Amino acid sequence: MQSQLDAQAVSILNNNDRGGFTIPTARLYPYQWNWDSAFIALGLATIDRQRAWRELTMLIDGQTADGMIPSILFRNDNPDYFPGPSVWQTTASSLPTTGISQPPVLASMILTLVRRDQAEGLGQARLLFDAVLNWHRWYHRCRTPVGCPVVCTVHPWETGRDNSPDWALGLSSMQIDPDIGPYQRKDIEHADPSQRPSQEEYDKYLTIVKFGRDHNWDQATLTNQGPFLMADPGIHFILLRADRDLLELATLLHRFDAVPEIETWIETAIAGTDYLWNDRLKAFCARDVRSGQFANGFSNASPLCFYAGVGSEGQQRQTLDHLKRIRGLTKFGHPSWDPQAPRFDSQRYWCGPIWPQMNYLIATGLNEQGETELAARLRLDLRQLIELSGFYECFDPLTGSGCIGRDFSWTAALWLAWASPAAGAFEAVSGEDEGFAS
Ligand code: GLC
Repeated sequence: MQSQLDAQAVSILNNNDRGGFTIPTARLYPYQWNWDSAFIALGLATIDRQRAWRELTMLIDGQTADGMIPSILFRNDNPDYFPGPSVWQTTASSLPTTGISQPPVLASMILTLVRRDQAEGLGQARLLFDAVLNWHRWYHRCRTPVGCPVVCTVHPWETGRDNSPDWALGLSSMQIDPDIGPYQRKDIEHADPSQRPSQEEYDKYLTIVKFGRDHNWDQATLTNQGPFLMADPGIHFILLRADRDLLELATLLHRFDAVPEIETWIETAIAGTDYLWNDRLKAFCARDVRSGQFANGFSNASPLCFYAGVGSEGQQRQTLDHLKRIRGLTKFGHPSWDPQAPRFDSQRYWCGPIWPQMNYLIATGLNEQGETELAARLRLDLRQLIELSGFYECFDPLTGSGCIGRDFSWTAALWLAWASPAAGAFEAVSGEDEGFAS
């Protein structure tokens, strides 16, 4: 039976539909976002599978000639959003887009949809396979800096964890370009400024965009000579997992021609993983590539080693220790930043709040590695957060109150696909709920 929250989740997805693709939330994010769409497809698949595949097909419409699937597809110029198409000025795709990408969860979400319904899913996956393969090629080719063992990122917005304290190192070594010109932020008109990035951070974000634009979005130049270059455990682990899932798709689709290339990526990523191990903190952390310095906190990307199925026994044990320690510090898990680390702020964008899609990925990995109790608890936490506060973009881990965007699509989608009591048939984790009720 459909609950009131199920119905609300469906209506959020319907209201955010803009003709075959779904915006994250009205006004604050009025376009199609890359990894949002992949998670949204999971929720849509519980209502209308054709619509779920259409979401992904429309995302691929933004792919550039060199294979990148951009972070945002601008199908119009919406005055509610800054920086829009006139600031990015990209030309490599048939649509106006940003000049950076986002965490590549797409292959993994396609595999999840295929597992749900092989008969129809394989036909759809076949249509998307080459686009996804080309995107992974782009990541491995264009985002691996010369001499670096792992794929990196050139902009905090590319990591999807836009304002994480992880990026402070890379941003602090940057100068603001005096020619970024005057501009008017829109995010602080739609959300509480105290929960959003500072002005200095925003100036630096735009400095990187200006560099890309000035270099005609030449991605190798942006990676090797751009103002910002960090390795991100989020992108590293998500891409490794996505490569493994792409390999499985290649096998299911009999695309054996792609297998050796994907296998090489997986081996290289596994071998490079130690680069992200911060031995002082005993955790996988972001790292500034040019200085070699590590970020100083356990983020919600750190435990994605389980999702990627990588890390030594000791590294995984120490990661679990952090997860359990942090679980004792907050009412709900898992916060985007360690409450005991500098810059923790329970309501500020990526400095503390809980993000539904990150919990889904963390829990998927924990469940697969046999940590079913922790995984089930994350699922139940998300359920309780939504029951308590509604379908927010993210949640305060101390109080459970909702933060930033409302009527948020990926929160609605993950309710339907994972967190709701009725989501059993489609859940990524299979823990028992009993015993965790607060
Ligand atoms: C914010 C988030 C990013 C997300 C976007 C749309 O920029 O940091 O991860 O994709 O909003 O929801």
